[in-house]
Amino acid sequence: MEQTIERKKRIFSGMQPSGELTLGNYLGALKNWIKLQDEYDCMYAVMDMHAITVRQDPAELRRRSLDVLKQYMACGVDPEKSILFIQSHVPAHAELAWVLSCNTQMGELSRMTQFKDKSRKHADNINAGLFTYPVLMASDILLYQADLVPVGNDQLQHIEITRDVAERFNHRYSDTFTVPEPFIGKSGARVMSLQSPENKMSKSDPNPNGFILMLDTEDVIIKKFKRAVTDSDSEIRAGEDKPGITNLLTIYAAVSGKTVDEAAKEFSGMGYGTFKQAVGEAVAAELAPVRKRFDELSKDKAYVEEVYTKGAEMASRIAAKTLRKVYKKVGFIGR
Ligand code: TYM
Repeated sequence: MEQTIERKKRIFSGMQPSGELTLGNYLGALKNWIKLQDEYDCMYAVMDMHAITVRQDPAELRRRSLDVLKQYMACGVDPEKSILFIQSHVPAHAELAWVLSCNTQMGELSRMTQFKDKSRKHADNINAGLFTYPVLMASDILLYQADLVPVGNDQLQHIEITRDVAERFNHRYSDTFTVPEPFIGKSGARVMSLQSPENKMSKSDPNPNGFILMLDTEDVIIKKFKRAVTDSDSEIRAGEDKPGITNLLTIYAAVSGKTVDEAAKEFSGMGYGTFKQAVGEAVAAELAPVRKRFDELSKDKAYVEEVYTKGAEMASRIAAKTLRKVYKKVGFIGR
């Protein structure tokens, strides 16, 4: 009798170790990664190869790469359930990227908003890697035949080009890649700066009061929320005319698991001061255990090393299978 073994759907995602992680990274991506672990085969990587598209201090990059991995684990990414690894430990990412870059058009890449933004920010270093960044990202995802990619809103354009590249390759060379879908959480997909809520919360914001770092202490977190910009009226409700309050409500909703409407109801009639204090306390309470686990992991270097070494071995095996298939399809002679 024929038996069908159903494989769980696969998830792939990652973060660049190009700065310290923020509340935006946490609510937009990490918090969802944790929830998905039981239902899916998850793979989460530290995208160090992407990070060097802008200049990095080598010693800092090494420290941050490990810190990012430890923050994944401190938030609850469980190495017993998910594959955790460092991108540069699996050479297949770069190998597939070459083949895919020969199947991606310059025109498509020049439309990417992240490329345009970063070229503006780093006008003295518009390197070829910055331009082909989305091809490497497509390789990350397609190498593992990922079905779903949990990310914040700002990465949607990159998932879209990944889908285009996969579909085009499948059409040209026959079915090879799973065409992935983005997975965007209900709230927190776009956390804005606390100081200029029309901009995304980002680790590269020159004003540190604009962002909350995942490893900020409780005092700092509460202080930053107290300083968050609001507006001149006194009504706690979401709306396009109230970007500061909307952002705070969204953050509270994402942390508490409530909807933005429920959050607005909970705070209706309160003053801005009390409201900001409550949001700050909720975020501080959520992140305090993360910081504690991070400190514990920092004392156990051997364990962290074991996790990323095993992770790279497992990832390499899956990646090799896809790469072999791709090399054959494009006409390379097998080894
Ligand atoms: P990166 O490192 O900029 O961000 C990591 C994740 O955090 C999300 N994020 C946010 N979500 C909500 N609000 C914010 N303010 C906010 N800031 C960041 C991002 O959407 C992302 O999910 N290109 C990717 C890294 C990458 C990748 C991949 C991701 C490389 N290869 C393959 C998924 C799959 C990036 O720069 O993310």
